[in-house]
Amino acid sequence: MAQVDAYDVSGDVDYDKLIKEFGAKLIDDKLAKKLDYPLVPNLYFAHRDLDTIIKKKFAIITGRGPSMNMHLGHMILWKFMKHLQDKFDAHVFIPFSDDEKLLARGLSKEHVIRMDYENLLDIIAMGYDPKKTEIMLDLVNMKQEVYNLAIEISSHMTANTIRSAMGFSPESTIGLQFYPAMQAAHILYPSQKLGVPTLVPIGVDQDVFVKLTRDVAEKVGLPKPGDIMSKFLPGLTGNKMSSSKHETAIFTTDNYKTVKKKIMNAFTGGRPTVEEHRRLGCETSVCVVCKYQALLFQDLDIVKRCAKGEVLSGENKKDLLEKVWSMLELHQEKREKAKDQVKKFVPELSDYEPK
Ligand code: TYM
Repeated sequence: MAQVDAYDVSGDVDYDKLIKEFGAKLIDDKLAKKLDYPLVPNLYFAHRDLDTIIKKKFAIITGRGPSMNMHLGHMILWKFMKHLQDKFDAHVFIPFSDDEKLLARGLSKEHVIRMDYENLLDIIAMGYDPKKTEIMLDLVNMKQEVYNLAIEISSHMTANTIRSAMGFSPESTIGLQFYPAMQAAHILYPSQKLGVPTLVPIGVDQDVFVKLTRDVAEKVGLPKPGDIMSKFLPGLTGNKMSSSKHETAIFTTDNYKTVKKKIMNAFTGGRPTVEEHRRLGCETSVCVVCKYQALLFQDLDIVKRCAKGEVLSGENKKDLLEKVWSMLELHQEKREKAKDQVKKFVPELSDYEPK
């Protein structure tokens, strides 16, 4: 059975049904045109108030919970953010919830700060304009205003609301139960600072935080944030993509050999023999390689040809490997250069030496 919440997305998600449950809207052609991005509306498919927010000046904010290195599912979001910054000349805010990951996963402070640094390199590598980008790491350089806003927000949130929205139990730590007020503060801080509404591009798992934030925004005198929601990129093995299960995801730091091995072992809808594959075609609805081709690279042509049996799964994997590696190789070059730019974005980590 499919599950979608802030700490788990698994199973075969029915996105149309999910959007109805969320009370969100699909991105229509008119809006897709305005966003002008190849992954809209196939991957970035739904929204709250995007239509009204993009009519005027707005800020963009989305965050990362640095428990591990980044994988492709995360990386595409930061590319999209960079596109939005350029397209709408918008200020970008990027909070890192290292505190959340410490609380939710029982990770050490040393570990999450190392991951802050590693993830920061991936984000800087996207080429954000430092004059219009603010990166806020909760445990490293959080602004006093953000904490003050979190406290104000938390005075409008009861433990009951948070427990039922997040699925926490009375045994969950009070740190974890407070955290949604922090994430709401991340989301509203740009509005407080710049006096404009915020737009939050996110995967569907994070919508619950936006919903909670929308419920308190006006109570703290700030406009309701909108969001743009992304479908979840499935894990390579056909299950959930998980940073802790290395074979399920391609990490931004993987070398060619590792990427090749992961893609060659990916779950496909290929048939047991070539003869059957040519006759019946690939079962594209379960084929992860086809999903990556469609969601990440908009290559619907290869998916169609695979469905007809014209392209074998091995050939499809090789094609995907080429596309993924050319994207990743370029990213890794920029990621290396990003080490010299840490000072510009987070001076507190400029002398950080990962152990
Ligand atoms: P995190 O680090 O779990 O995820 C970061 C973003 O990546 C998206 N994502 C994916 N998208 C597509 N396919 C996948 N397989 C995939 N896996 C992850 C997530 O949906 C998310 O948008 N608490 C947050 C970080 C955060 C934040 C914020 C987000 C802190 N402050 C303010 C939005 C607004 C988190 O742990 O995300």
